[in-house]
Amino acid sequence: MNQQQLKNLLEDMSLEEKIGQLLQLSNSFYEDEAVLTGPAMQLGIGEKQINEAGSVLSVFGAEQIKSIQETAMKKQPHHIPLLFMADIINGYKTIFPIPLAQGCSFQPELVKKCASVSATEAAVSGLHVTFSPMVDLVRDARWGRVMESTGEDTYLNGLMSEAMVEGYQGDRSGEKLDQFGHISACIKHFAAYGAPEAGREYNNVELSERTLREDYLPAYKKGIDAGSAMVMTSFNTLDHIPATGNKWLMQDILRGEMGFEGVLISDWAAIEELVSHGIAEDRKEAARLAMEAGVDMDMVTGCYINHLQELVENGQLKEQQIDEAVMRILELKNQLGLFENPYKDADDNKAAELCLCEEHRRLARKAAADTMVLLKNENDILPIQETAGKIAVIGPYGEEGRLYGAWSLQGTDADTVTIKEGIEEAGYDNDQIVFYAGSSLLDEDEKLYGFKGLVKQYRERSNEDLLQEAVHAAKGADTVVMALGEHAYHSGEGGSRADITIPECQMHLLREIAKVNQNIITIVFAGRPLDLREIADCSKAVLYAWFPGSEGGSAIADLLFGMQSPSAKLSMTMPYSVGQVPVYYGGYTSGRPFNGNRTNRFQAVYQDIPNEPLYPFGYGLTYTSFSYSKPELDQQVMSMEDELHVSVTVTNTGKRTGTETVQLYLRDLKGSTVRPTRRLKGFERITLEPGEEKQVTFKITEDMLRFYDIHMDYVSEPGEFALFIGGDSATQNEIRFELQSQK
Ligand code: BGC
Ligand code: BGC
Repeated sequence: MNQQQLKNLLEDMSLEEKIGQLLQLSNSFYEDEAVLTGPAMQLGIGEKQINEAGSVLSVFGAEQIKSIQETAMKKQPHHIPLLFMADIINGYKTIFPIPLAQGCSFQPELVKKCASVSATEAAVSGLHVTFSPMVDLVRDARWGRVMESTGEDTYLNGLMSEAMVEGYQGDRSGEKLDQFGHISACIKHFAAYGAPEAGREYNNVELSERTLREDYLPAYKKGIDAGSAMVMTSFNTLDHIPATGNKWLMQDILRGEMGFEGVLISDWAAIEELVSHGIAEDRKEAARLAMEAGVDMDMVTGCYINHLQELVENGQLKEQQIDEAVMRILELKNQLGLFENPYKDADDNKAAELCLCEEHRRLARKAAADTMVLLKNENDILPIQETAGKIAVIGPYGEEGRLYGAWSLQGTDADTVTIKEGIEEAGYDNDQIVFYAGSSLLDEDEKLYGFKGLVKQYRERSNEDLLQEAVHAAKGADTVVMALGEHAYHSGEGGSRADITIPECQMHLLREIAKVNQNIITIVFAGRPLDLREIADCSKAVLYAWFPGSEGGSAIADLLFGMQSPSAKLSMTMPYSVGQVPVYYGGYTSGRPFNGNRTNRFQAVYQDIPNEPLYPFGYGLTYTSFSYSKPELDQQVMSMEDELHVSVTVTNTGKRTGTETVQLYLRDLKGSTVRPTRRLKGFERITLEPGEEKQVTFKITEDMLRFYDIHMDYVSEPGEFALFIGGDSATQNEIRFELQSQK
């Protein structure tokens, strides 16, 4: 349709019909009897409202979606098609590593490819929109949804946000949304959902406007600039105002400053939750507040459908406001080509052909290998040599299929390559390898509730029994590979934890094995950074596998036996202990920074633990080593219009080919507000042969030096700056330059 046709359509619609477009229903409304019982009854939504709804979420499968679409269009007065949306977070059927792991790749191009494959599989399965990427900056590992973010860094998150949007939508303009295999992205959760107080899910957010603007908003902006057709509001409050009813945030910042013109959807039931938050008297007031804030679509509550008409009729809202929201939704349907082809790419045959096809699995395998972080590798115990002798693989993750994390709604154990399967295929002499669970995954007394109720543990034998045979196997082995970790449902939505360790039964197993065998390589599965101290102490090597997805087991085998080398770097700080959290690189100095000498009590330091994390942001080893030369500048002084170049030479000082991510950090030594001790400003991945060296050069321009100054203006201030270049955020490889004021 052209613009005029869209306008004509809008003009022809009744107010009631228009309000229908703003309603998104959940899949449960399309199950038999839904209208008479369950959700519909509770929400006050009848058959008429269902027939006029604009969108549905969480229906899966091409045939099912086509059939709902066909029926819905017959009933909708103007035969307007529905938008089908779902959470495709790290893959549809082919599951990629969780987003936090994807951040560790430091490869936006790879992340874009994963998003593009996810889009294709979702599109042929009938979907039009994914609720991804989640670009919330995260600093608190207690919060379970850190797994869904790409990490703690503003710059890295921004690149990943852009990459994912382009991967899903096909290009920056969103003009290609109607083409085969493309779906709309939805940037979420606007804003600052990643900063819930004390890491507790849905908790309120206390952020200064400066921190919000400087650290949190840029990644949303990057995704919006990349053309994201949708944005989702967040559940949290910000400055005591719930985001979903926050006019300043949505109108002034999102639509005004950021220039977002697409569809703004509430998070699940977030409009109605304005009542629980205590800023709305009832659902009617909630509807008014959300509409005034500029929320276009109501995810699964009856607030809009039941109250907007009355609010317009009694003059509390203008019909114009409704029209604008409806128009944005019609425009998205039009961009997706739904008026011409309401089924878009939905095709069961294509889905069967493409989902989990060899090419997609190959990408998943590479992505998994490129996102696992090697944290420790004493005496080069990894990669395992052919001559390594007997290997015992011990731990509940050895044969576990749930390697795809909490948010992979279409992932299955059966579609996932386990460690055992991966290793058995790897070509190491299988007679030399044995597998023992050693313990259950969860502690006996833990009651863990997943997205679909209680997680049931299958226990045929006691942990004591399992332990005995594992210890026996460890005694007879030359090398032990421990496969341990959190359960997938320890993270994800509703996955906040105060104690960020793995279940005690698994720790007990590790301790007992460590008593009889010191050659331990531990693979850790987790949806968050954990307190790893004891695991690291007991192990010669630690490979942090996150939740790696469908090809997790094959990628682990690739890394264990050296067919691939690890190259990932932490996208989130690994704390020394939970007491440091929130902890992130490049925090602020205080007036009394710790000088390393504890005899003076009056310093910014813990009495019982170090200030430094166990492993810093940007950290990760590979099977070779690198040295860095001192950074060199092409000029010491820079003017506002100038650019400056800083170079280092990186040398592979080890015996194997390896990939290093060379990272550039910047510090503003003095500002009108206190500046962070460093921030990532660039990185480059390079691959070097043993002995090979390469010069890496970064360009510094004035815009990289800007921040929100004392007047909240985004500017740079003349003065001295430090640059750090190295293999992680703790590097002290430093050089300074000066920014001169304008003459
Ligand atoms: C989550 C969103 C998600 C939505 C729809 C909410 O609970 O916070 O991230 O997209 O549900 O499933
Ligand atoms: C303390 C103040 C105290 C002052 C003088 C400072 O270190 O923070 O509370 O009054 O010393 O003793």
